[in-house]
Amino acid sequence: MSQRVAIVSGGIGGLGTEICRHLAGSGHVVIAADLATRSERLAAFRAETADLAAQIEFAALDIADFDSCAELIRSTEQRHGSVDVLVNAAGITRDTTLRKMSQDQWHSVLTVNLDGVFNLCRNAIDGMCARGYGRIVNISSVNGQTGQFGQTNYAAAKAGMHGFTMSLAREVARKGVTVNSVSPGYCETAMVMQIAAEIREQIVAGIPVGRLGRPSEIARVVDFLAAADSGFITGANIPVNGGYFMDF
Ligand code: CAA
Repeated sequence: MSQRVAIVSGGIGGLGTEICRHLAGSGHVVIAADLATRSERLAAFRAETADLAAQIEFAALDIADFDSCAELIRSTEQRHGSVDVLVNAAGITRDTTLRKMSQDQWHSVLTVNLDGVFNLCRNAIDGMCARGYGRIVNISSVNGQTGQFGQTNYAAAKAGMHGFTMSLAREVARKGVTVNSVSPGYCETAMVMQIAAEIREQIVAGIPVGRLGRPSEIARVVDFLAAADSGFITGANIPVNGGYFMDF
């Protein structure tokens, strides 16, 4: 069988980069899709994935733009034959209390973090169903499960993502397509490093494992869900948070 093809949105970001590395390591052709404007980050990404350059390519994508998502899916199917795995890892924060939040801060987070999932899934789903195979993994957040001070926008998007995941999982289960979410806790990424040190230290103190997560600890779960033999897991949310939030 030819190599499976994976698209990772937010592919050059903190979690995205490691997800690309893991998927390439398990034999996928990987398209890291991200804003072309992140030129410094792109150079760093190319250096961090140099050993896997033959399997990972970069594609410019504005996840907020439906047509840009349609074009990415179309061109990938044309060049590589299919989109077998879709990882929605693009995400932004605009943290502030609701009392100070502007409409723009609300809309930008909802547009990237939630509309972006619709934009890519809507364009990828017909091909996956027609081919009878697909793995969709949505990167949500522990804060979508618990809420977080200063994150009404982000937590709403991340919780919404899981409602989307469960609904789509039901719709496409009989077509060989699984849809799951992974809810990372606080990890060693630029996004988490933006939090004021004092607040971050308080958060880390509340993590039973006693440290931030490593992006590779998220990526290996994504790779697991993306595997062909994970076909009986669908509509699930896998928490990877160092024990920060436990439920069942
Ligand atoms: N808990 C309780 N009270 C808090 C607080 C907190 N975390 N942060 C601030 N306050 C208090 C302030 O002391 C202040 O009190 P007073 O009015 O009595 O002075 C009041 O709440 C308002 O505070 P600010 O004016 O500072 O509020 P703000 O609108 O500027 O925003 C904040 C504060 C920057 C959002 C800050 O609360 C914060 O950094 N929160 C954590 C956000 C966070 O965890 N983001 C995660 C980013 S990483 C990520 O999202 C990845 C992932 O999935 C895990």
